[in-house]
Amino acid sequence: MRKLKYFKRHRMELPLLQAPLEMELPAGYRWLAWDDALLALHAEVKFLSFQHHDDAIIFPSLASRAGCHELMQAIRYRDNFCPEATWLVVGPEGGVGTIQGLIDSNGYGGIQNLGVIPECRGMGIGKALLLKALAGFARRGVPRAFLEVTATNEPAVRLYRALGFRAYKTFYRSVEWPPESAVVESLTARFIN
Ligand SMILES: CC(C)(COP(=O)(O)OP(=O)(O)OC[C@H]1O[C@@H](n2cnc3c(N)ncnc32)[C@H](O)[C@@H]1OP(=O)(O)O)[C@@H](O)C(=O)NCCC(=O)NCCS
Repeated sequence: MRKLKYFKRHRMELPLLQAPLEMELPAGYRWLAWDDALLALHAEVKFLSFQHHDDAIIFPSLASRAGCHELMQAIRYRDNFCPEATWLVVGPEGGVGTIQGLIDSNGYGGIQNLGVIPECRGMGIGKALLLKALAGFARRGVPRAFLEVTATNEPAVRLYRALGFRAYKTFYRSVEWPPESAVVESLTARFIN
């Protein structure tokens, strides 16, 4: 019989008192501002960033190309999509990092799915993307940014804390266990026992 497994998540917030300082990208990498023609590339970079990540267990859309494409479309076609906080980083071999933003009913900026492909991590691209999105929110007059993160996602939690985000709410997200998807099954091996 399948049972539920619970993953601890934090909601973290950051007051945007002033526009954050943006960071330069490493040599050979450049920014692409939002354009509808980039939706598929955002989806592909999202997939490459999350396909082997624990978050793909919690959010099965992240484990497949089709799921990431649908997720990108859902974000893009929401009324509160914020193109100013949505950025892609490309390098010599194509897209390497993605971030998207939404503005909620309180006027707060929600960061969606920051992702950097595994080959390009640890180069400052994730931090630069987050600062770029926060600067985009600040340009829209957004007073506060928020995001959600899995508590065990140390690289992400560390990055968010270093930029001043603080956890203000902890909650649990349940997942049917073991998960149905064959793609996800390989990911779950490390949780068994
Ligand atoms: C989280 C993620 C976006 C970070 O991207 P990145 O480009 O590797 O991060 P950066 O190189 O900009 O590093 C910035 C900071 O992040 C933290 N960090 C990054 N990688 C880390 C690691 N492996 N372990 C611990 N901290 C790490 C550090 O605080 C680092 O600061 P430093 O430069 O002072 O060391 C990337 O690891 C990723 O895409 N992970 C998979 C998807 C994901 O978890 N997204 C977040 C969902 S909430």
